[in-house]
This record gives sequence, C-alpha cells and structure tokens, in this order.
Amino acid sequence: MKILFVSSEVAPFAKTGGLGDVSAALPKALHALGHDVRVVVPMYARVLGRGHAFTEVIPEIVFPMGDLTVRVAVFSAPLPGTAAPVYFVRCPALYDRANIYDTAGDEHLRFAVLNHAALRLCQHLGFAPDIIHVNDWQASLIPLLLRTLFAWDRLFARTRTVLTIHNLGHQGTFDAGLLGEAGLAPVADGLHQDQLREGRFGFLLTGILYANAITTVSPTYAREIQTPEHGVGLDAFLRARADVLRGILNGIDDAEWNPAADPLIPHAFSIDDLSGKERCKAELLASAGLPYRQDVPLVGVVSRLAWQKGFDLCEAVLPRMLERRRFQLVVLGTGEGRYEEFFRALARAFPRQVAYLPAFSERLAHAIEAGSDMFLMPSRYEPCGLNQMYSLRYGTAPIVHRTGGLADTVWNFDPATGRGTGFVFDHFDAAGLAWALGRALDLWGDGAGAELDRWRQLQRNGMRLPLGWSHRIGEYLELYRLVAPEA
Ligand code: ADP
Ligand code: GLC
Repeated sequence: MKILFVSSEVAPFAKTGGLGDVSAALPKALHALGHDVRVVVPMYARVLGRGHAFTEVIPEIVFPMGDLTVRVAVFSAPLPGTAAPVYFVRCPALYDRANIYDTAGDEHLRFAVLNHAALRLCQHLGFAPDIIHVNDWQASLIPLLLRTLFAWDRLFARTRTVLTIHNLGHQGTFDAGLLGEAGLAPVADGLHQDQLREGRFGFLLTGILYANAITTVSPTYAREIQTPEHGVGLDAFLRARADVLRGILNGIDDAEWNPAADPLIPHAFSIDDLSGKERCKAELLASAGLPYRQDVPLVGVVSRLAWQKGFDLCEAVLPRMLERRRFQLVVLGTGEGRYEEFFRALARAFPRQVAYLPAFSERLAHAIEAGSDMFLMPSRYEPCGLNQMYSLRYGTAPIVHRTGGLADTVWNFDPATGRGTGFVFDHFDAAGLAWALGRALDLWGDGAGAELDRWRQLQRNGMRLPLGWSHRIGEYLELYRLVAPEA
C-alpha cells in the first residue's frame, strides 16, 4: 500500500514524547513489510541543528492560505534503519523556533501549513496515497481538506484517511477569528457549526468528523474517551463514530529498546543473564551521585512532568515512604515548574536516596530503564504509554495506575501463582499509590534468597511479553484495507 504518515514529531529528528517514537517505529514496521510509506513533519530548528544529511526534494511550493501566500521547501532524509523517506516541510518563519511547540500564538498557522503542505507535496511528487494516516490535532485538517479544497484532484480519488488520537487532552481549538489564517474560510461550512457559533473551531474535532477511520493507542483508552469522564468534551462525537473507532495498542521498537544490544547502556543483559542489569544499576547510581547497595531497590522515573502524568500523588506519598522504607529514586524529566520544584526539593531532603535530573536525554532514559528495579508511572490518564513497555522489556517492574494503555499492559503480580508483570493501583489517590509502591517494596524484601527468585519470576514475565510492532502492525493493515476502496 501507499501510505503517507503526517505527524508533528518523528524520532530521532524531533521528539517531545511518545508521538515521536510511534511516528518512527510504526512507519518502520510498515516499510519492513514492503509498503511504500512516507512521513511528513515540519523542519524545526532542532532538526537542522543535529547534523543529519538532507536532500532538497522541492525547492519551493507556493500556495495561498487565506490572505497569506505561503512558501515552503521540502527536504528529505531516510527514516533511520530504513529506506523510507521522511519529508521535512521547511518554512523558517514558522518552524525555526527553540521548541517544537510554541507559545507565540501562531500554532494554528504553523500546523495548518503542515496539513496544506502535505497535500501539495503529494501533488508535486505525483504520489497518490491509499491511506493518509494523520496523527493528533496537528494533522487533523487533512480529512476535511481532501473532501473540499483538494476534492477536484483525481490524484486523491482513492485516498482514504485514518486519524490516530494519541492524546485527547490536546485538541487544537482556536478562536474562530483565526480560521482565515488557517486557510479554512472557504470550507467553514464543513467545520462544526455549533462550535463555530460559540466562537471557536477545533483541528481535532474536524478530524474526528471527517476521517474515514479513527484509532487511538490502546483498547482501554478507546473505551474511556467515549465516556463523559474521559472524553474531554468530545465523547459525544467519538460515540457517534464508534463504528469506525478502534483501540490499537502501540508497539515498541524492539531493535532500539533491546537490553541485549543497546548501545546507550553500559552493560548488556537478557532474560537468561541479568547480571549486566545489576552493573547498569551500580553505574546509574554512581553517575547520579547516589550510593549503591544491592539490597536496596531503585525506582526510576522518565517522564514529561505534566499534569497528565499524576505526580501530584507523589507529593503526598513519596516523602513519607522515603522516611519509612528503604529505596532509592532517580527521576529524569522536565516540564511544569511545580513538579520540577517538588523533585528538586525531594532530592535536597533525601540526598542519599533521591536524584533529580532535569534534562531530556535519550541516553539517560535508556540508562534508567536498564538500571532501575522498578519504574513509577502513576499517570492520571495515559492513552498508551511507552515507558512502562520499555520497562517490561528491561526487567524493570512498572508501578502504574490502572488507566488507558497502562491497564492493557501491566498486571498485578501474584506471588501465589507467579503470574503478573508489575503493580497496579485502581484508584487515583495517595492511598492507591502508597499501596502499590508498598507492595513492590514488600515483594522485593532484601532482594536476596527466595525473595530474589520471586522477583526474577516477575521480571521474566515482563521480559517475555510480545511488545514489538511486528505484533501490532497487522491491526493497522487490516484497518487500512477496510477503509481503502477495493482495487
Ligand atoms: P508521552 O508521550 O505522554 O510523553 P510515553 O510514555 O508514550 O508518554 O512516551 C514518552 C517518551 O518520551 C518515551 O520514549 C520516553 O523515554 C521519552 N521521554 C520523556 N521524558 C524524557 C526525558 N526527560 N528524556 C528522555 N526521554 C524522555
Ligand atoms: C501520547 C500519550 C501516550 C502515548 C503516546 C504515543 O503522548 O500521552 O500515552 O503512548 O502519545 O501514542
């Protein structure tokens, strides 16, 4: 099949979270099966600054958007590990910014240009996709544009769209006064009219209304977003499209996240020989400035420090637990000042137990997954979550809230049966988190003898799970074939 994959992030070029990982690994898995898959992303300043080699594909595409005349160029580079092209839309006025997402007030324009440019790019290349797979609000105008401004072009006669919602918390809703700048004035009839009357328009809602099929990134989240509690105001629209809405669990790139061959960790290990993991732990602690003791478990965190991730619970639980129980904590992440300040203060209060690393570092993320005994992810909501899966692969027991993709990937360990992969609490409150962390520490005990045997069982259960994209890709292909017209 011919598939155009449009996203605001793609690793390793531009990533703030799991969207970047999925936008690389899913196309890579499609390419491995012989499909003609191509990825489109903006060329942010950081993409240029990383020393990748780019080929200029189209020196200039000029098109009108409302009163503006937009000029973009398109560059390409292969998606690492494949021959599939990533197309970068270059428009310095919009994308040469310090961060991928910006607060300058022109996000509607920056990402509307991505949508328009992706379709113009197809026209310039004569590329007729069977499927345009659009991701999150930043690419959600394409289904409407195809049915309106681009409907005349026979190139797209057989093109169908799939929208994947990675996070319903971000909807790209803007003041109706900006729709001209987004190039939507001629198609305003197609926007949701009630919302428009209330003075707003939404990228994601538009995608939900017009995509041929909608997916989200876990079966549990697919159910949750159709309820008022988790629907963030869009549940009624999602229920109305329930017949084409599916939850497909994300996979992980198991070449990149493989403890037996990971260039970013100091010692390799595997399900048959975990000794390298212990050495990874010792080195991680040393580099974080904490003392190493084999009998004291290490809890890791790698996360955006955002409201979604549930660290509010840590404020209530961690200081007391650190006083009473023996464990250490290494936290990697940046984000909202409140959480950064909390972890900074925690590290000051417990200097031999806690290290806070305020950075975004692939190397440290891998080192923490490899060197920790447990991984803490108390998310308030979690569409899928990748880090708990990386943890499972690295023999690091996840401690999670039963929500979204966390509920679909982590099961409570039962010492009686030896089954289960981690520690899961049902209610998002301090008592829930304290219970799950307490259970994990109890089960660890002194990390020796019969307790260690039990822990090894837990680790092996997780390490054996089939988490790679090769186990997921069939669900996407089935969906693509369902929406694509018969040949
Ligand atoms: P989300 O997309 O909501 O942030 P996921 O668990 O799906 O959550 O994906 C997060 C991704 O971002 C993972 O690959 C994780 O390793 C990475 N990540 C998050 N924070 C950092 C950080 N500070 N340094 C390096 N990688 C990070
Ligand atoms: C979003 C979600 C996360 C998911 C990722 C990739 O960022 O917050 O749960 O894993 O997208 O789909």
